[in-house]
Amino acid sequence: MSGGDCGFICEKLMDRRYSEWVARALRKWLDRRDPSCCYHELSKMEPGYYGWSVMVSDYEEFYKRMSGRRKVRLPEPLAESGVDTLVALRSRRSRRSYARKSLGLRELATLLYYTVGITGRAWWGGPKRTYPSAGGLQPVEAYVVSLNVDGLEQGVYHYNPGDHSLEEIYTGDVGEELYRACLDQEHVLEAPANIVLTIVYSRTASKYGLRAYRYAVMDVAFAGENVYLVSEALGLATVAVGAFYDEMLCNILGVDCEWEYPMLVFPVGRRQS
Ligand SMILES: Cc1cc2nc3c(=O)[nH]c(=O)nc-3n(C[C@H](O)[C@H](O)[C@H](O)COP(=O)(O)O)c2cc1C
Repeated sequence: MSGGDCGFICEKLMDRRYSEWVARALRKWLDRRDPSCCYHELSKMEPGYYGWSVMVSDYEEFYKRMSGRRKVRLPEPLAESGVDTLVALRSRRSRRSYARKSLGLRELATLLYYTVGITGRAWWGGPKRTYPSAGGLQPVEAYVVSLNVDGLEQGVYHYNPGDHSLEEIYTGDVGEELYRACLDQEHVLEAPANIVLTIVYSRTASKYGLRAYRYAVMDVAFAGENVYLVSEALGLATVAVGAFYDEMLCNILGVDCEWEYPMLVFPVGRRQS
């Protein structure tokens, strides 16, 4: 956030109406010893108030593009899986053990595309995705930590939904680091790949201000359910991992934790027979 943005927010906070609002939220936090009601209070809508529009200086449009990186073109995603949506929903489970086998690049491509891929255009030209998004502002980014994927070097990659490619962040085996960042949860180390979803609040905040807190979290949850359902449809196994040390995970992904927040890690692998 630039100095200008801070100035804008400070000005708002000094406005009596807003400072009362912030005080009310903080009081709830202290009374109930639960900060979640504070986040919720601050993102409440009232008649005549739609949230402050935060002036965002580095608004990156709808997805990140990492220029100057080696690109890995992904195979076309599967057009169908043969598994009915209702069947996938009924059988969906968090699965935490994986066969010691590699994941195919086409399976990974299919997972990424159906999790956050672009499936059309809005009337104003913005992309439409496989997940619904408040205001179509699409705060979700997807990364891959490749540990054992056919045809893909071990390493960390960003998924570019614009051209359905992976942008290499760096190569190398970061399985142990990811395992430690995720509080020693063995499933992230056992899985041949981990998909990590992050959110960039500023995209949503550029229109919805403080309401962005709710909306962006809901957006990423919709995308996360896609990982589960596509895994189910492909006969793979996954689990949402929300317990991780944030700064450690930001370092692994090479993202700026001030702007982009990791939200969920999905180890993905073959089911054990
Ligand atoms: C936001 C969120 C965070 C989660 N974090 C973890 C986690 O860190 N580790 C884990 O093993 N499972 C995690 N889970 C999976 C839940 O434990 C699982 O969904 C729950 O036990 C219900 O089981 P089911 O998914 O098979 O229906 C998480 C799920 C959600 C929705």
